[in-house]
Amino acid sequence: MSTPAYIGILTVSDRASRGEYEDRGGPAVRDYLTEVLCSEWIAKPIIIGDEQPEIEAAIKQLAHDEDCCLIVTTGGTGPAARDVTPEATEAVCEKMMPGFGELMRKVSLEKVPTAILSRQTAGIRGNSLIVNLPGQPKAIAECLDAVFPAIPYCIDLIGGPFLETNEDRIVAFRPKKK
Ligand code: MTE
Repeated sequence: MSTPAYIGILTVSDRASRGEYEDRGGPAVRDYLTEVLCSEWIAKPIIIGDEQPEIEAAIKQLAHDEDCCLIVTTGGTGPAARDVTPEATEAVCEKMMPGFGELMRKVSLEKVPTAILSRQTAGIRGNSLIVNLPGQPKAIAECLDAVFPAIPYCIDLIGGPFLETNEDRIVAFRPKKK
């Protein structure tokens, strides 16, 4: 039996981390992945405030100690002073994957004009792909639907587990070997 894929779900929100309101972004990411992935996977959820050193430490923990091949963050991508998730992501990544942010903003702009306010990005640290999403729960599926077809192959390329998707929901694109 193949080993399960570990996937980090990192909610970045001052208020959710203080318990002032219920985290809705993290559960929306988990629901999305449950719907889309048919290979075995295990969620590694973390909720933290909008503090860059804490976000960096959480990403490193998920990447190394928890062995996550994919880390999805939600929240902290906007223009406000405390929105620092993209900065934390960039600080811990060896390679940035700017196409993810570009595509997610493009599809989101078709839904909401304020999509341009998200500085969401993605990058690679070791064997982990880190993808930022906005905090709005409805943004989760809107953004992931656009980029998910490329995520399993990206994880293949960085030495992660073989992710399989429910093809009636998302078809993972893997170029044929030459
Ligand atoms: N993208 C999608 N698909 N749907 C949304 O509702 N909200 C936008 C934007 N991107 C939104 C979206 C808004 S209003 C903001 S301020 C930014 O994401 C940043 O959100 P964040 O700071 O919660 O990450």
